[in-house]
Amino acid sequence: MLTLTVNGETRHVDVPPQMPLLWVLRDELGLTGTKFGCGAALCGACTVHVAGEAVRSCQTLVGDVADMEITTIEGLGTPAALHAVQAAWITHQVAQCGYCQSGQIMQAAALLVANPTPTDRDIDDAMDGNLCRCGTYPRIRAAIQTAARTLAEG
Ligand code: FES
Ligand code: FES
Repeated sequence: MLTLTVNGETRHVDVPPQMPLLWVLRDELGLTGTKFGCGAALCGACTVHVAGEAVRSCQTLVGDVADMEITTIEGLGTPAALHAVQAAWITHQVAQCGYCQSGQIMQAAALLVANPTPTDRDIDDAMDGNLCRCGTYPRIRAAIQTAARTLAEG
């Protein structure tokens, strides 16, 4: 039995410590906002935060993060109090099919903590590992700049 902290809640899961965090989030905890894409840390669809850092949950062993704060897209904001990145995503109508988008948002939110005033080049570098088959990259960049301004205004 492992004890996790996910989206501020203590959760107990009876899984082997070698299980990928993504499997635990989706199949054990029902947090299906985090997506499976490649399973090999190549696409970013499974991105969540562990101790505030963006990580690929498909390649993160749950036993390695059992005592760390885990945040998924379900815990980033709420419908009534969206995270600035989520609000900017709506403003710019970023999503097309949507499959990659929770990973994109989690990566973007971590970027803005590390670098509150990113240049377009900084954004492209930080988002480089998050693939979007629908090609929403220009709107992702614009939305991150909007979110940065929102956060700067407090
Ligand atoms: S599913 Fe994890 S990076 Fe693609
Ligand atoms: S919105 Fe379709 S893959 Fe990114």
